[in-house]
Amino acid sequence: MDKKIILSGMRPTGKLHIGHWVGALSNWVQLQKDYTCFFMVADWHSLMSEYKFPEQLKEYVFDNVCDWLSFGIDPESSAVFVQSEVPEHLELFFILSVLTPLGWLYRCPTYKDQIKQLQEKEVNTYSFLGYPVLQAADILIYKATHVPVGQDQLPHLELCREIARKFNFLYKKDVLVQPQALLTKDSRLLGLDGRKMSKSYGNSIYLDDSDEEIDKKVMSMITDPARIKKDDPGHPEVCNVFSYYKVFSPQRVEDAADWCSNAKKGCVACKRELAESLKVFLAPSREKKKEILKKKDYIYDILKTGRKKAQSAALTTVNEVKKAMNL
Ligand code: TRP
Ligand code: SF4
Repeated sequence: MDKKIILSGMRPTGKLHIGHWVGALSNWVQLQKDYTCFFMVADWHSLMSEYKFPEQLKEYVFDNVCDWLSFGIDPESSAVFVQSEVPEHLELFFILSVLTPLGWLYRCPTYKDQIKQLQEKEVNTYSFLGYPVLQAADILIYKATHVPVGQDQLPHLELCREIARKFNFLYKKDVLVQPQALLTKDSRLLGLDGRKMSKSYGNSIYLDDSDEEIDKKVMSMITDPARIKKDDPGHPEVCNVFSYYKVFSPQRVEDAADWCSNAKKGCVACKRELAESLKVFLAPSREKKKEILKKKDYIYDILKTGRKKAQSAALTTVNEVKKAMNL
Protein backbone atom coordinates (compact mmCIF):
# COMPACT_ATOMS: atom_id res chain seq x y z
CA MET A 1 0.00 0.00 0.00
CA ASP A 2 1.67 3.22 -1.04
CA LYS A 3 -0.75 5.93 -0.10
CA LYS A 4 0.72 9.35 -0.62
CA ILE A 5 -0.28 11.71 2.14
CA ILE A 6 0.22 15.44 2.31
CA LEU A 7 0.06 17.71 5.29
CA SER A 8 0.58 21.39 4.92
CA GLY A 9 -0.26 24.42 6.96
CA MET A 10 -0.44 28.17 6.88
CA ARG A 11 -0.22 30.51 9.80
CA PRO A 12 -3.24 32.79 10.04
CA THR A 13 -1.42 36.07 10.58
CA GLY A 14 -3.56 38.23 8.30
CA LYS A 15 -5.45 38.28 5.05
CA LEU A 16 -4.03 36.16 2.24
CA HIS A 17 -2.39 37.93 -0.69
CA ILE A 18 -1.34 36.89 -4.18
CA GLY A 19 2.04 35.84 -2.78
CA HIS A 20 0.25 33.15 -0.76
CA TRP A 21 -1.46 31.98 -3.92
CA VAL A 22 1.77 31.75 -5.90
CA GLY A 23 3.89 30.35 -3.08
CA ALA A 24 1.51 27.82 -1.56
CA LEU A 25 -2.17 27.76 -2.36
CA SER A 26 -1.89 27.18 -6.13
CA ASN A 27 0.33 24.23 -5.35
CA TRP A 28 -2.09 22.78 -2.81
CA VAL A 29 -4.92 22.94 -5.31
CA GLN A 30 -2.88 20.91 -7.81
CA LEU A 31 -1.73 18.33 -5.26
CA GLN A 32 -5.29 17.43 -4.29
CA LYS A 33 -5.55 15.27 -7.40
CA ASP A 34 -2.75 12.89 -6.52
CA TYR A 35 -2.57 12.86 -2.73
CA THR A 36 -4.69 12.42 0.35
CA CYS A 37 -4.43 15.96 1.66
CA PHE A 38 -4.64 17.53 5.09
CA PHE A 39 -4.69 21.32 4.97
CA MET A 40 -4.36 22.95 8.32
CA VAL A 41 -4.71 26.46 9.67
CA ALA A 42 -1.72 26.60 12.01
CA ASP A 43 -3.23 28.85 14.66
CA TRP A 44 -1.03 27.60 17.51
CA HIS A 45 1.98 28.52 15.38
CA SER A 46 0.56 32.01 14.88
CA LEU A 47 0.04 32.41 18.56
CA MET A 48 3.75 31.82 19.15
CA SER A 49 4.58 35.12 17.49
CA GLU A 50 1.28 37.00 17.86
CA TYR A 51 0.57 36.22 21.50
CA LYS A 52 0.23 39.89 22.35
CA PHE A 53 -2.82 40.24 20.10
CA PRO A 54 -4.58 36.88 20.21
CA GLU A 55 -7.98 38.49 19.68
CA GLN A 56 -7.36 38.83 15.91
CA LEU A 57 -6.63 35.15 15.39
CA LYS A 58 -10.19 33.87 15.05
CA GLU A 59 -11.04 36.31 12.31
CA TYR A 60 -7.95 35.44 10.27
CA VAL A 61 -8.59 31.71 10.65
CA PHE A 62 -12.06 32.11 9.23
CA ASP A 63 -11.02 34.48 6.47
CA ASN A 64 -8.11 32.31 5.33
CA VAL A 65 -10.29 29.21 5.14
CA CYS A 66 -12.77 31.15 2.99
CA ASP A 67 -9.94 32.06 0.62
CA TRP A 68 -8.76 28.46 0.43
CA LEU A 69 -12.24 27.31 -0.52
CA SER A 70 -12.89 30.05 -3.04
CA PHE A 71 -9.55 29.42 -4.72
CA GLY A 72 -10.10 25.72 -5.25
CA ILE A 73 -9.40 23.71 -2.13
CA ASP A 74 -12.00 20.97 -2.27
CA PRO A 75 -13.34 20.08 1.17
CA GLU A 76 -14.82 16.85 -0.18
CA SER A 77 -11.46 15.39 -1.06
CA SER A 78 -9.16 17.22 1.37
CA ALA A 79 -9.42 17.59 5.12
CA VAL A 80 -9.56 21.30 5.90
CA PHE A 81 -9.17 21.93 9.59
CA VAL A 82 -7.87 24.16 12.36
CA GLN A 83 -4.85 22.94 14.30
CA SER A 84 -6.15 23.98 17.71
CA GLU A 85 -9.31 21.91 17.19
CA VAL A 86 -7.24 18.74 17.13
CA PRO A 87 -5.59 18.78 20.56
CA GLU A 88 -3.71 15.57 19.75
CA HIS A 89 -1.18 17.83 18.01
CA LEU A 90 -0.19 19.21 21.39
CA GLU A 91 -0.01 15.77 22.90
CA LEU A 92 2.40 14.55 20.25
CA PHE A 93 4.23 17.88 20.44
CA PHE A 94 4.93 17.22 24.09
CA ILE A 95 6.00 13.64 23.55
CA LEU A 96 8.40 14.72 20.81
CA SER A 97 9.68 17.54 23.02
CA VAL A 98 11.00 15.10 25.60
CA LEU A 99 13.39 13.59 23.08
CA THR A 100 14.41 16.66 21.11
CA PRO A 101 17.78 18.02 22.25
CA LEU A 102 17.95 21.77 22.82
CA GLY A 103 20.98 21.91 20.53
CA TRP A 104 18.91 20.91 17.50
CA LEU A 105 16.55 23.81 18.15
CA TYR A 106 19.13 26.48 18.93
CA ARG A 107 21.01 25.49 15.81
CA CYS A 108 17.98 25.90 13.56
CA PRO A 109 18.70 28.78 11.17
CA THR A 110 15.08 29.95 11.12
CA TYR A 111 15.17 30.38 14.89
CA LYS A 112 18.17 32.69 14.85
CA ASP A 113 16.66 34.60 11.94
CA GLN A 114 13.26 35.10 13.45
CA ILE A 115 14.55 36.14 16.85
CA LYS A 116 16.36 38.97 15.08
CA GLN A 117 13.60 39.85 12.62
CA LEU A 118 10.70 39.77 15.04
CA GLN A 119 12.36 41.70 17.83
CA GLU A 120 9.36 43.88 18.60
CA LYS A 121 7.20 40.76 18.92
CA GLU A 122 9.47 39.42 21.67
CA VAL A 123 9.60 35.84 20.51
CA ASN A 124 12.48 34.95 22.79
CA THR A 125 10.12 32.56 24.52
CA TYR A 126 10.04 28.94 25.56
CA SER A 127 7.38 28.00 23.01
CA PHE A 128 8.99 29.78 20.09
CA LEU A 129 12.13 27.73 20.46
CA GLY A 130 9.91 24.67 20.08
CA TYR A 131 8.20 25.96 16.92
CA PRO A 132 9.73 23.25 14.70
CA VAL A 133 8.79 20.53 17.17
CA LEU A 134 5.13 21.45 16.93
CA GLN A 135 5.53 21.54 13.16
CA ALA A 136 7.05 18.06 13.31
CA ALA A 137 4.08 16.87 15.35
CA ASP A 138 1.71 18.38 12.74
CA ILE A 139 3.39 16.36 10.02
CA LEU A 140 4.14 13.11 11.82
CA ILE A 141 0.70 12.80 13.35
CA TYR A 142 -0.77 12.25 9.84
CA LYS A 143 2.11 10.06 8.69
CA ALA A 144 2.53 12.54 5.87
CA THR A 145 4.80 11.18 3.16
CA HIS A 146 5.18 14.57 1.51
CA VAL A 147 5.13 18.15 2.71
CA PRO A 148 4.91 21.02 0.22
CA VAL A 149 7.11 23.77 1.56
CA GLY A 150 9.19 26.68 0.40
CA GLN A 151 12.96 26.73 0.64
CA ASP A 152 12.80 28.61 3.95
CA GLN A 153 11.05 25.71 5.67
CA LEU A 154 13.56 23.02 4.70
CA PRO A 155 15.43 23.13 8.01
CA HIS A 156 12.14 22.41 9.79
CA LEU A 157 11.53 19.42 7.60
CA GLU A 158 15.01 18.07 8.21
CA LEU A 159 14.44 18.47 11.95
CA CYS A 160 11.15 16.62 11.61
CA ARG A 161 12.90 13.73 9.90
CA GLU A 162 15.56 13.70 12.58
CA ILE A 163 12.96 13.59 15.34
CA ALA A 164 11.10 10.75 13.60
CA ARG A 165 14.34 8.76 13.27
CA LYS A 166 15.19 9.28 16.90
CA PHE A 167 11.74 8.20 18.03
CA ASN A 168 11.78 5.05 15.93
CA PHE A 169 15.30 4.24 17.08
CA LEU A 170 14.59 4.78 20.79
CA TYR A 171 11.41 2.73 20.88
CA LYS A 172 12.48 0.17 18.30
CA LYS A 173 9.40 0.54 16.19
CA ASP A 174 8.79 2.24 12.85
CA VAL A 175 5.81 4.21 14.02
CA LEU A 176 6.72 7.59 12.57
CA VAL A 177 7.17 8.19 8.85
CA GLN A 178 9.95 10.43 7.60
CA PRO A 179 8.37 12.93 5.23
CA GLN A 180 9.83 14.18 1.95
CA ALA A 181 9.83 17.84 1.03
CA LEU A 182 7.95 18.83 -2.08
CA LEU A 183 9.75 22.02 -2.91
CA THR A 184 7.49 24.68 -4.35
CA LYS A 185 9.14 26.34 -7.30
CA ASP A 186 10.75 29.54 -6.24
CA SER A 187 8.47 31.99 -7.97
CA ARG A 188 8.17 34.39 -5.14
CA LEU A 189 6.30 37.54 -5.93
CA LEU A 190 7.66 40.74 -4.53
CA GLY A 191 5.42 43.41 -3.12
CA LEU A 192 4.28 46.53 -4.98
CA ASP A 193 7.37 48.41 -3.81
CA GLY A 194 9.82 45.63 -4.68
CA ARG A 195 10.30 44.48 -1.09
CA LYS A 196 9.05 41.16 0.27
CA MET A 197 5.25 41.07 0.08
CA SER A 198 4.07 41.54 3.63
CA LYS A 199 1.14 42.89 5.55
CA SER A 200 3.42 45.08 7.62
CA TYR A 201 4.83 46.86 4.53
CA GLY A 202 1.38 47.64 3.11
CA ASN A 203 2.59 46.42 -0.29
CA SER A 204 0.28 43.46 -0.92
CA ILE A 205 -2.49 42.70 -3.35
CA TYR A 206 -5.00 40.68 -1.36
CA LEU A 207 -6.88 37.78 -2.82
CA ASP A 208 -10.19 39.55 -2.24
CA ASP A 209 -9.17 43.04 -3.37
CA SER A 210 -11.80 44.87 -5.41
CA ASP A 211 -11.19 45.83 -9.05
CA GLU A 212 -10.63 49.43 -7.95
CA GLU A 213 -8.03 48.38 -5.39
CA ILE A 214 -6.26 46.24 -7.98
CA ASP A 215 -6.12 49.17 -10.42
CA LYS A 216 -4.82 51.54 -7.79
CA LYS A 217 -2.22 49.11 -6.49
CA VAL A 218 -0.88 48.04 -9.88
CA MET A 219 -0.55 51.69 -10.91
CA SER A 220 1.55 52.32 -7.81
CA MET A 221 4.04 49.56 -8.64
CA ILE A 222 7.68 50.44 -8.99
CA THR A 223 9.04 49.78 -12.50
CA ASP A 224 12.45 49.81 -14.17
CA PRO A 225 14.02 52.95 -12.70
CA ALA A 226 16.06 53.46 -15.88
CA ARG A 227 12.90 54.00 -17.88
CA ILE A 228 12.05 57.62 -17.24
CA LYS A 229 10.49 58.73 -20.50
CA LYS A 230 8.26 56.65 -22.70
CA ASP A 231 10.93 56.51 -25.43
CA ASP A 232 13.56 55.11 -23.06
CA PRO A 233 13.96 51.39 -23.67
CA GLY A 234 13.17 49.40 -20.52
CA HIS A 235 14.68 46.31 -18.94
CA PRO A 236 11.88 43.87 -18.28
CA GLU A 237 14.09 41.51 -16.27
CA VAL A 238 14.58 44.12 -13.55
CA CYS A 239 10.95 45.25 -13.52
CA ASN A 240 8.60 43.90 -10.90
CA VAL A 241 5.60 44.48 -13.18
CA PHE A 242 7.17 42.11 -15.68
CA SER A 243 7.61 39.41 -13.04
CA TYR A 244 3.87 39.65 -12.41
CA TYR A 245 3.25 39.12 -16.13
CA LYS A 246 5.08 35.82 -15.86
CA VAL A 247 2.59 34.62 -13.29
CA PHE A 248 -0.69 36.25 -14.19
CA SER A 249 -0.39 36.78 -17.93
CA PRO A 250 2.06 34.17 -19.22
CA GLN A 251 0.66 34.34 -22.75
CA ARG A 252 1.67 38.03 -22.96
CA VAL A 253 5.19 37.73 -21.54
CA GLU A 254 6.93 37.83 -24.91
CA ASP A 255 4.89 40.76 -26.10
CA ALA A 256 5.58 42.65 -22.89
CA ALA A 257 9.31 41.99 -23.17
CA ASP A 258 9.18 43.36 -26.70
CA TRP A 259 7.17 46.50 -26.05
CA CYS A 260 9.27 47.25 -23.01
CA SER A 261 12.78 46.75 -24.36
CA ASN A 262 11.92 48.45 -27.66
CA ALA A 263 10.04 51.32 -26.05
CA LYS A 264 6.87 50.57 -28.00
CA LYS A 265 4.52 50.94 -25.08
CA GLY A 266 4.72 53.00 -21.92
CA CYS A 267 4.62 51.73 -18.36
CA VAL A 268 1.13 53.03 -17.73
CA ALA A 269 -0.31 51.01 -20.61
CA CYS A 270 1.75 48.01 -19.56
CA LYS A 271 0.39 48.22 -16.04
CA ARG A 272 -3.14 48.73 -17.23
CA GLU A 273 -2.99 45.47 -19.11
CA LEU A 274 -1.52 43.65 -16.12
CA ALA A 275 -4.29 45.01 -13.91
CA GLU A 276 -6.86 43.61 -16.34
CA SER A 277 -5.27 40.15 -16.17
CA LEU A 278 -5.19 40.28 -12.40
CA LYS A 279 -8.84 41.23 -12.29
CA VAL A 280 -9.79 38.38 -14.62
CA PHE A 281 -7.88 36.02 -12.39
CA LEU A 282 -9.06 37.27 -9.00
CA ALA A 283 -12.66 38.31 -9.64
CA PRO A 284 -14.34 34.87 -9.89
CA SER A 285 -12.85 33.67 -6.61
CA ARG A 286 -13.57 36.99 -4.95
CA GLU A 287 -17.22 36.71 -5.93
CA LYS A 288 -17.29 33.10 -4.76
CA LYS A 289 -15.89 34.22 -1.42
CA LYS A 290 -18.69 36.77 -1.07
CA GLU A 291 -21.21 33.98 -1.55
CA ILE A 292 -19.44 31.71 0.91
CA LEU A 293 -19.30 34.47 3.50
CA LYS A 294 -23.10 34.61 3.47
CA LYS A 295 -23.20 30.99 4.62
CA LYS A 296 -21.11 30.91 7.76
CA ASP A 297 -22.62 27.60 8.82
CA TYR A 298 -21.35 26.05 5.61
CA ILE A 299 -17.80 26.96 6.62
CA TYR A 300 -18.27 25.72 10.17
CA ASP A 301 -19.60 22.43 8.80
CA ILE A 302 -16.56 22.03 6.56
CA LEU A 303 -14.25 22.70 9.49
CA LYS A 304 -16.16 20.23 11.61
CA THR A 305 -15.91 17.51 8.98
CA GLY A 306 -12.25 18.35 8.47
CA ARG A 307 -11.61 18.14 12.19
CA LYS A 308 -13.24 14.71 12.37
CA LYS A 309 -11.18 13.36 9.47
CA ALA A 310 -8.00 14.80 10.93
CA GLN A 311 -8.69 13.76 14.47
CA SER A 312 -9.37 10.17 13.62
CA ALA A 313 -6.01 9.89 11.83
CA ALA A 314 -4.25 11.81 14.61
CA LEU A 315 -5.67 9.62 17.36
CA THR A 316 -4.48 6.48 15.62
CA THR A 317 -0.92 7.77 15.50
CA VAL A 318 -0.91 9.04 19.07
CA ASN A 319 -2.13 5.65 20.26
CA GLU A 320 0.61 3.88 18.31
CA VAL A 321 3.16 6.28 19.73
CA LYS A 322 2.08 5.62 23.29
CA LYS A 323 1.99 1.89 22.70
CA ALA A 324 5.53 1.93 21.31
CA MET A 325 6.62 3.70 24.48
CA ASN A 326 4.59 1.44 26.73
CA LEU A 327 2.76 4.41 28.17
N1 TRP B 1 5.76 26.91 9.61
C1 TRP B 1 4.90 27.00 8.47
C2 TRP B 1 5.03 28.38 7.87
O1 TRP B 1 5.36 29.34 8.54
C3 TRP B 1 3.46 26.73 8.81
C4 TRP B 1 3.28 25.32 9.27
C5 TRP B 1 2.90 24.89 10.51
C6 TRP B 1 3.46 24.16 8.48
N2 TRP B 1 2.83 23.55 10.56
C7 TRP B 1 3.18 23.05 9.34
C8 TRP B 1 3.86 23.95 7.16
C9 TRP B 1 3.32 21.77 8.88
C10 TRP B 1 3.99 22.65 6.70
C11 TRP B 1 3.72 21.56 7.57
O2 TRP B 1 4.77 28.54 6.70
FE1 SF4 C 1 8.05 47.41 -16.43
FE2 SF4 C 1 6.16 47.26 -18.30
FE3 SF4 C 1 7.39 49.58 -17.79
FE4 SF4 C 1 8.73 47.63 -18.95
S1 SF4 C 1 6.96 48.69 -19.79
S2 SF4 C 1 9.47 48.90 -17.27
S3 SF4 C 1 7.83 45.80 -17.98
S4 SF4 C 1 6.06 48.45 -16.42
